[in-house]
Amino acid sequence: MSTILLDKVKTIKTLNNIAEVGLNVFNNDNFTIDNESENPDAIVLRSYNMHSMEFSNRLKAIARAGAGVNNIPVEKCTEQGIVVFNTPGANANAVKEMVLTTIMASSRNLFAGVAWTKTLVDEGDQIPKLVEAGKKQFVGKEIKGKTLGVIGLGAIGALVANDALELDMDVIGFDPFISVDTAWSLSRKVQRAMSLEQLFANSDYITVHVPLTPETKGLFNEETFGIMKDDVHILNFSRGELVNEADMKAALESGKVGKYITDFPNENVLKMKNVVPIPHLGASTKESEENCAIMAARQVKDFLETGNIKNS
Ligand code: MLT
Repeated sequence: MSTILLDKVKTIKTLNNIAEVGLNVFNNDNFTIDNESENPDAIVLRSYNMHSMEFSNRLKAIARAGAGVNNIPVEKCTEQGIVVFNTPGANANAVKEMVLTTIMASSRNLFAGVAWTKTLVDEGDQIPKLVEAGKKQFVGKEIKGKTLGVIGLGAIGALVANDALELDMDVIGFDPFISVDTAWSLSRKVQRAMSLEQLFANSDYITVHVPLTPETKGLFNEETFGIMKDDVHILNFSRGELVNEADMKAALESGKVGKYITDFPNENVLKMKNVVPIPHLGASTKESEENCAIMAARQVKDFLETGNIKNS
């Protein structure tokens, strides 16, 4: 039994060293299936884009150490009988902490304020005066009592909703894959589940936690921005393509969107002052990488040994 690791999913190697998983692992950071690791039974990967890869007849499973599977050609895999796993929930806490961190930090203009302060030059006693100017320039707003709209009430969205309530926000939710009523009964932490239009119209902050599908692609566009409140803050820790970036640029320019916090920097909006671009750090914690790798390794091992398909 051989498994190839793409994209530095190191934890599985560690697990193997302590014989907890027992996969025969080839670590391949060059993203090629070379002679040594030729014809693996399974591939475990993080973010490498597999869409142009050819798969051998021997390949039985691909496991994504993460939630989204848009870097894997799922339809082609299904046609070839290759099972695709992801690791739902394994990085949910990391993403939740990042969402709450950035909601608060951007509301207080912390990113801009820190960047500005670092440009100050100490010439005599000028810094205290400049700091006074900064204090006026970067006045923020509190999140208490503001409405947070959570789109997607899965593992991440439900955690975000729960903790935002603890921070005294009003939380409303929508899920594209379940009805409003079901969303309401499943997610008792969300104060009110509502239609997407209602959520857009009522939110001061919107955070999105849905996979990229043909239905969710471009969810944030000229038309949906039109429904939103002025100065809405939008957080995207899901996938860049959920947002039409040209329409986002216009919405940022007009002040419709007050802040755009994105884990998927796009050159259209990257340098705008009300954009907080983040280099895909939402799920990047030691703990989450370990959780994802462990779940992926166990899924693959279980499947190769018993044929069980357990996506948890
Ligand atoms: C995910 O889909 O869960 C993230 O993209 C994981 C990651 O950061 O690799």
